[in-house]
Amino acid sequence: MTRTLIAGGTCVTASDTFVADLWIENGKIVALTAPSQRAALGQPDLTLDATGKYVIPGGIDCHTHMSLPFGGTTASDDFDTGTVAAAHGGTTTIVDFAIQSKGSSLRAGLDAWHAKAEGNAAIDYGFHMIMTEANAETLEGMAALVREGVTSFKMFMAYPGVFLVDDQQIFRAMLRAGELGALITMHAEIGLPIDVLVQRALDQGHTAPVYHALTRPEVAEATGTERALALAEMAKVPVYMVHLSAQRALERVMEARDRGLPAFAETCPQYLFCSEDDLRGPPGGDEWQGAGYVCTPPLRPAHHHDHLWRGLRNYDLQVVATDHCPFCMKDQKELGRGNFSKIPNGMPGVETRLHLLWEGVREGRISMNRFVEITATAPAKIFGLYPRKGTLAVGADADVVIWDPELQKRLGVDTLHMNVDYSPFEGKVVTGTPAVVLSRGEVIVQNDLWVGKTKQGRGQFLKRGTFNL
Ligand code: URP
Ligand code: ZN
Ligand code: ZN
Repeated sequence: MTRTLIAGGTCVTASDTFVADLWIENGKIVALTAPSQRAALGQPDLTLDATGKYVIPGGIDCHTHMSLPFGGTTASDDFDTGTVAAAHGGTTTIVDFAIQSKGSSLRAGLDAWHAKAEGNAAIDYGFHMIMTEANAETLEGMAALVREGVTSFKMFMAYPGVFLVDDQQIFRAMLRAGELGALITMHAEIGLPIDVLVQRALDQGHTAPVYHALTRPEVAEATGTERALALAEMAKVPVYMVHLSAQRALERVMEARDRGLPAFAETCPQYLFCSEDDLRGPPGGDEWQGAGYVCTPPLRPAHHHDHLWRGLRNYDLQVVATDHCPFCMKDQKELGRGNFSKIPNGMPGVETRLHLLWEGVREGRISMNRFVEITATAPAKIFGLYPRKGTLAVGADADVVIWDPELQKRLGVDTLHMNVDYSPFEGKVVTGTPAVVLSRGEVIVQNDLWVGKTKQGRGQFLKRGTFNL
């Protein structure tokens, strides 16, 4: 048994900030004690000095797409490269989206995702299940998944012919989720009219990446959000809106929450830091570069940023996840040159989430405690991982980050570990970065280097609990 001491750091949880020694045994946090008591507590095998640094729970990214087949290609990070990158950025748990292919079973989809992750993931992981059909068989099959710890399901109002399900199917799945204690998560953009706008733009000869945003207006997301909230209200179940990008969708969530409904929502760093302008390419430069910023919902005009930050500060938004879904510019985004609708949708982000959000702390947009809450504690609570994950507490897994608030890092393809040939934040210098990352008590990243004894396969599948907020 290794006894590890993280000595004298400033521990930050969702609720408290305090200087303490954090003791780890058998992969668990076993004590949080005053540094003055250190001598009485015996010798550790390993001491990590955290003086002058923050000690925070490892990040939980509850929205990733490793090896997602999409748009005629496959997301370029797999469970190996993607989880190693996550760890370098201070994230120690991901919840990835398994897919039920149309005409196939939930079981087959889940088995396929287990096969992708097992033996490859470097950090712990769980799964949501994307449901592309809510028929008698899949509704029945939800129960087995919930028993196995896959307790949340994603449904799409977008992507007709691929993922889109109609309101009746969504409603049936919501009722079933209510019976099982599962959570429905929604991609809430109304895809049928969007497809008409896309076709019209192409007919008019508009092919550049920015038309991805111009054909998916804010109102399409606001309307989808309102509809999803209404269906959840009728079904009397909680609902979680994924990747919320814009002011009006946020206002729909706020109204629902103000009426006491159990409505939850996440946003993503790209909606807080990037904008529709990025989709136009560099000023006076190559408009094709905008392809690197094509994700869905699309990036919005920059005035939305303040609304989303305010939503995070005021508890109207509960989580920041990444929707990590990287595609290389070469060979992948390239598929949509000359036709924006064929650009694979998604952006890299699993490694840079904490770096970027810490900028929000430095700018006074959110407190350190709120930073911990939206990156770790709230996703753990909403998705049935708490208190094993998401906080610093006796008995919790020792997924811990020693965060150096002064150390600078330049974000770029050459400094990051994601398997993708560009960075949306190329050249951006951030202040604050993980000095040490521990997963279940093992030091896996130190000074931006992988130092874990093993890498691929050390991550464990997490059987998540049912919804209980
Ligand atoms: O652009 C995105 N978001 N790609 C991943 C699929 C999704 O809708 O989450
Ligand atoms: Zn989505
Ligand atoms: Zn996604």
